[in-house]
Amino acid sequence: MQRSECSENNKSSYCDYNEAFTSYDQIRHPHGAKEILDIFSQSSIPLQEQIVLEGGFGTGAYLDLFRHQVEKIYGIEGSDQGLHQTRLKTQDSKNVNLQIGDILDLPFEEQFFDAYMVNQVLHHLDSGYPFAHMDTFLDESQRVLKPQSYLTINTCSQEQLDPEQGVYWHYKYISSAAHQLRSHYLPIEDLQERLESRNFTDVKQTIPCEKIFHCDYYENPEVALRPDFKKGDSIYSFMSESEIEESDNLLKAAIDKGTVYDDMKRASDRAAEIGETLLVSAIKPKCL
Ligand SMILES: C[S@@+](CC[C@H](N)C(=O)[O-])C[C@H]1O[C@@H](n2cnc3c(N)ncnc32)[C@H](O)[C@@H]1O
Repeated sequence: MQRSECSENNKSSYCDYNEAFTSYDQIRHPHGAKEILDIFSQSSIPLQEQIVLEGGFGTGAYLDLFRHQVEKIYGIEGSDQGLHQTRLKTQDSKNVNLQIGDILDLPFEEQFFDAYMVNQVLHHLDSGYPFAHMDTFLDESQRVLKPQSYLTINTCSQEQLDPEQGVYWHYKYISSAAHQLRSHYLPIEDLQERLESRNFTDVKQTIPCEKIFHCDYYENPEVALRPDFKKGDSIYSFMSESEIEESDNLLKAAIDKGTVYDDMKRASDRAAEIGETLLVSAIKPKCL
């Protein structure tokens, strides 16, 4: 999927989510939701009394789960299609407030939220070092969170995204795009350092137990040839039509030879070791 020129809102630096969201929910799960709820539950404020923010809520898969668990949930999203799909899911729920906006410039006053989550969003902010937008994101998070409240960042490590040794088997066939995507992710150690330098405490990593894709991806390699799969995975935004065709041919040959099943097994063994994604959580300090 190539980024297209369009008049609708779209905040991602490289992917047109108004296009991607037409098939997103068919290929992906809100993985890590259970672990995030567990983290938010550790707060001194009971979960059902918390006012929560989700940044970059996409099609609303997380937000729709969380609205039943918390007092009120606000969401900021960069794409019109995301807002539209989330409104369909949440209907007119009284405890949901959705807005088009930018997580780098949150339209909320200081110390407004009891918890803040971003799920697979931050790699859309920067294309590499110095990851200046990441700093803006962290400063904004610190500003809108109440003291002693939780921030959770659902992201991926450099190891998980490695096209040869990582956990996504199809990256081997689109390795140049995978390297490009990887450069958009701030390494976890640097993220932790940036949190700590802002005096966030209890900076921790959790590996979500759920898988990111629907089960077809782990069983049938032909899934990665399908247009709806490509539409829902922003990595294809880094590829031209001819590069996609070339990589499809490589994959088809590996399916014919049966070698792709070795790649799938290797990736799933690696995922069992290091997970498919990582949750970095931290607590805003009592006083700065
Ligand atoms: C990979 S999707 C993840 C969607 C959702 N969080 C999920 O995991 O299902 C990335 C989302 O981040 C949103 N996004 C990217 N940059 C943004 C920004 N600066 N402000 C608000 N939303 C942004 C995109 O529009 C897209 O919905």
